[in-house]
Amino acid sequence: MADTTPQPAATPAPTTPGGPKSMDAIMALCKRRGFVFQASDIYGGINGFWDYGPLGAQLKKNLREAWWQDMIMNPAWGRKGPNGERVRCVPLETCIIQHPKVWEASGHVAGFNDPMVDDKETKGRFRADHLQGLYQIGDYESPLADLLARTASTGGAVPVCTVVASSAGEAIDQLLNTRKLQKELGIRTITSRTPLTDSTRPFVSVDMGNLKADCEVLAVPMPTLKSRFAEVPSPFTGKKGVLTEPRQFNLMFFTYTGAVFNEESKVHLRPETAQGIFVHFKNVVDSTRVKIPFGIGNTGRSFRNEVTPRNFTFRSREFEQAELEFFCHPDESQDWYRFWRDFRMEWWRSIGLAGENLILREHEKDELSHYSCGTSDVEYRFPFTAPGFGELEGIAHRGNYDLTQHQTHSKVKLDYFDTTRGETLPNGSKKGERYIPHCIEPAAGLDRGALALICEAYTVDPSRPSPEFLKLHPRVAPIKAAVFPLVDKDGMPEVAEKLADALFARFGRHGFIETDAKQSIGKRYARMDEAGCPYCFTVDGDTLKDQTVTVRDRDTGRQERIGLDAVPAWLGERLGL
Ligand code: GAP
Repeated sequence: MADTTPQPAATPAPTTPGGPKSMDAIMALCKRRGFVFQASDIYGGINGFWDYGPLGAQLKKNLREAWWQDMIMNPAWGRKGPNGERVRCVPLETCIIQHPKVWEASGHVAGFNDPMVDDKETKGRFRADHLQGLYQIGDYESPLADLLARTASTGGAVPVCTVVASSAGEAIDQLLNTRKLQKELGIRTITSRTPLTDSTRPFVSVDMGNLKADCEVLAVPMPTLKSRFAEVPSPFTGKKGVLTEPRQFNLMFFTYTGAVFNEESKVHLRPETAQGIFVHFKNVVDSTRVKIPFGIGNTGRSFRNEVTPRNFTFRSREFEQAELEFFCHPDESQDWYRFWRDFRMEWWRSIGLAGENLILREHEKDELSHYSCGTSDVEYRFPFTAPGFGELEGIAHRGNYDLTQHQTHSKVKLDYFDTTRGETLPNGSKKGERYIPHCIEPAAGLDRGALALICEAYTVDPSRPSPEFLKLHPRVAPIKAAVFPLVDKDGMPEVAEKLADALFARFGRHGFIETDAKQSIGKRYARMDEAGCPYCFTVDGDTLKDQTVTVRDRDTGRQERIGLDAVPAWLGERLGL
């Protein structure tokens, strides 16, 4: 039986203005207006898979195209890079299924495994190596908060915080020093404190803003977790005897090629688009005139059999990535890393994620992979991560790790001969230098991007005809404009249709131009507000006399009159098209 996802409540309470945004209300709006549907909805859905409705599909297309335009066709908005030259990038489109050796070389066969533990009663599942007692890394719904709330309200026993560590000291140390985790979970402060009742058992005090509590810390060494899992308290309930033995779980989906199903025909669905780029590095260099430094971009579906898909589309099992691998000389790599890190932050801001909900977080040294000399995440404060943040995009300095790995596994030379470097010869030319380029990787998730845009745009104002509406940035808004006749008679529909045709001819490839003559004008505006349409043009009695129309701004609700003929130019200026 397929694992199914519960639907959001049928009529969730909209968010209180100024208060935290309600994820249930956002999900309900997404379904009501056709942004996001559960995959296989009429069969009850399938956990970890989401489809986009008409508006969502266009929103995501606009996001993908904005990325493509600003990262590939006109990279970094035509800016010069740290080398003083215009940034150059080319696209690639690679298969979901690759040769099995690709995933051996990339490390995904050996390293994309998580040891998983299940709670047999709650069906909760978590990574054994991240068993931080009452919560887990990368899981944005915090069982810690639930447990503390329950304990506080019932005056129950002190919660036990189980940590995989070899000693109590190490456990406390992990708890106090996992800053990323604390941020994600909204822990403001966590301090070690004198034991409450028993001097042999350590405690921590956790402050989560509205919740403050003491937790007992229980250190469980990994070998113990494996052999005596039944004695480890469940991180969800604190109960013993309900956990299963940790089992290795590879996050890659697999299938078979050809008619025979055996180990030889087994292939994986890609868990990232990046590797398709590395394996074609030489083909791109040989087939185009690109010279280092340059980037190769790739967008498309990736698949990860996430153990706990959750938080709407945030952690899905099928999702879309937009990745750039930017190849450069090792000596320039730090400059390029900073360049892309800063540009990516600016880019997300430019499409509507401005404000304090967006942050750039530089990884701590101990968070970096062994080959990386720098990684930053662009993070957004989603309603389900607040007050913490969730990753939208990672910008990693990957050194020459990937090309070296593929060179070793494929036995094909993936180095680069740079004719602009090396000693200067007597004839004035350079001797040249051979090296394996370093790589900077801005890796974005388009589903998380679309979700962040929707969450940021979602606004509640009970004084408006549409108490909930989406302030989507015009560049990504799926409906670019609406044209309405005030009433469905007196020649107004004909004028409106002509105007809609003109707008469609100019802007139709960027999004919908809506027309609608039914219902009151207030209801039609409200529908457009909920769909995030930035401008509505209304043809009324005066239009027929003075050739002007009303234009209504979604965000302010203000109306002004402009000439009928001026509408395409007026709209083009505001849409930046
Ligand atoms: N090549 C590097 C790479 O794949 P990643 O951080 O694993 O890095 C990049 O993935 C982006 O892909 C993430 O920042 C996120 O936006 C998106 N992503 C990763 N796993 C996802 C999932 N299960 N569901 C939705 N988006 C995901």
